[in-house]
Amino acid sequence: MSTPLRILRLIASSRGADSESLRLSQQVLDGLAARHSLAVQDIDLNDLPHADSAYAVALASAPGAVQAEAGSTLQRSAELIRQLDDADMLLIATPMHNYTVPSALKAWIDHIVRIHVTFNGTPQGKVGLLRDRPVYVAIASGGLISGEHARQPDFLRPYLQAALATVGLRDLHFFCVEGTARGEPALSEARASAHAAITGFFTPA
Ligand SMILES: Cc1cc2nc3c(=O)[nH]c(=O)nc-3n(C[C@H](O)[C@H](O)[C@H](O)COP(=O)(O)O)c2cc1C
Repeated sequence: MSTPLRILRLIASSRGADSESLRLSQQVLDGLAARHSLAVQDIDLNDLPHADSAYAVALASAPGAVQAEAGSTLQRSAELIRQLDDADMLLIATPMHNYTVPSALKAWIDHIVRIHVTFNGTPQGKVGLLRDRPVYVAIASGGLISGEHARQPDFLRPYLQAALATVGLRDLHFFCVEGTARGEPALSEARASAHAAITGFFTPA
C-alpha cells in the first residue's frame, strides 16, 4: 500500500457545507483520489486571529529574539507553517471577496509569509524557503472573473500567485465556478464547466 499523499486543505468560506468553493475543492480531492490514496487535513481559516501587535514586533526583531508564548499568534504562526511544510500538496477553497481573497485567507497568508522563516530578504528581492509543490485553488465568485464578459477586476489569482511565490510555492492551478449569483441556468453551466476542467486536468492524456 503506497504512502498517502498529505493534502492540506484551507477553507476560507464562512458558509460551511453550503460553500460553493468547498464543494469545488471536493471535486479536486476526487480527482486526486482517483490516482492516489489521500490523507486530508482541513483548516477552517475563519477561526484564525489576525496578526496582532506582539506578532508584528516579533517579525521586526532579530531571528530568534522573541520566543513564542503558549497561545500567542507567533505560536499559531509556527504551527501553520509546520502544517504547510509537512503537506505534499496544498488545496485552497476560497470565494472571491471584493475582487481578492477573503480576510480569513489573508490572515493565513500573514501567518505563513515570515521573514527568516519562510523567505529571506536579499538585494535581489524576497527568496522563498519552502520546497515547491502543487497548489490547487478552488475559487467561487458571484460574478464572472475570466474572459471578455468579466466586468470586474481579478486581484485574487495574481495576488495569491505573488504571495505564495514569496515563500517558494509557484506551481499553482486554478479552478473556478464563476457567476454563482447569476441564477439558473448559468450556475449549473458554471458548475459543469468547472467540473469538466477538473476532470480533464486529472485524467491522464
Ligand atoms: C463580503 C463579500 C464580498 C464579495 N465580493 C465579490 C466580488 O468582489 N466579486 C464577485 O464576483 N463575488 C463576490 N462575492 C460573492 C461570492 O464570491 C460568491 O457568493 C461565492 O460563490 C461565495 O463562495 P462560497 O459559497 O464558497 O463562500 C462576495 C461575497 C461576499 C460575502
